[in-house]
Amino acid sequence: MTTQNIDLNEYYGVQTIGITKQFDGVKALDDVSLTIPIFGITSIVGPNGSGKSTLVNLITGVLPYDEGTVVIETNAFKVIHAHETPDHGITRTFQEVRLFDQMTVWDNIMVVLTNRKLFPSMAERSKSEHHEKAEEILKQVGMWEKREAMAEDLSYGQRKLLEIGRAMALDVQVYILDEPFAGLFPQMLERVKDLLRELRDNGRTVVFISHNMDIVRELSDHIIVLESGKFLLAGEVEDILNRPEVIRAYLGT
Ligand SMILES: Nc1ncnc2c1ncn2[C@@H]1O[C@H](COP(=O)(O)OP(=O)(O)O)[C@@H](O)[C@H]1O
Ligand SMILES: [Mg+2]
Repeated sequence: MTTQNIDLNEYYGVQTIGITKQFDGVKALDDVSLTIPIFGITSIVGPNGSGKSTLVNLITGVLPYDEGTVVIETNAFKVIHAHETPDHGITRTFQEVRLFDQMTVWDNIMVVLTNRKLFPSMAERSKSEHHEKAEEILKQVGMWEKREAMAEDLSYGQRKLLEIGRAMALDVQVYILDEPFAGLFPQMLERVKDLLRELRDNGRTVVFISHNMDIVRELSDHIIVLESGKFLLAGEVEDILNRPEVIRAYLGT
């Protein structure tokens, strides 16, 4: 088993230890041990089907893992429940966008902001706060003008932006985005890059999956490479992108 060696003053964000996930006998992830550092932007790269989305699905409890442990901060989990993910300090987006299609853009953000309030009085008190936050987020992701549109009427790129906004509406430590740049127009792409940098600069842990190696190079502090369900290697951006194994994985030779 290959393990990763990151020296970040013993601070760790999210760690997997020997996690394995099979689908119908096929190992989507095979004994994967890796660390997502708490600081900076980490990209997860690898060819199609290498297990990137599965990794995120396991960490966020969308799918159960067969074996192994996930460590979030100092807590080790044998089982993770999706609804507890925000309590673990993690929010995410999906490669295939998940929205409330029958709700407006505005309401899609508001449900995230309000659904964890336990007491009506608290909800009432913070109502104007929620409105301000929703406005801020919609402006950040460039969806303010579209706030009254139904989610189902949005374009592909707009749906992605709204989902990113929904993830950002939670005030947590770790933001994981599964292919946030796929299908975005250049202007929106720049906007999302800025959002990720801003989260990073505010001390948040940012993780993204992407096939766009220009963006990976530009944005990442750390890179984790998966290949055929296995951890291949990880480290600092320039180091990793110049490795022959990485070039081989991408060129398929
Ligand atoms: N829910 C699922 N059911 C069955 N097979 C799946 C499921 N999710 C992923 N897989 C399989 O697991 C492997 C890894 O998929 P995935 O994690 O989506 O890869 P990536 O995100 O790197 O493209 C692929 O062979 C894929 O077909
Ligand atoms: Mg994927």
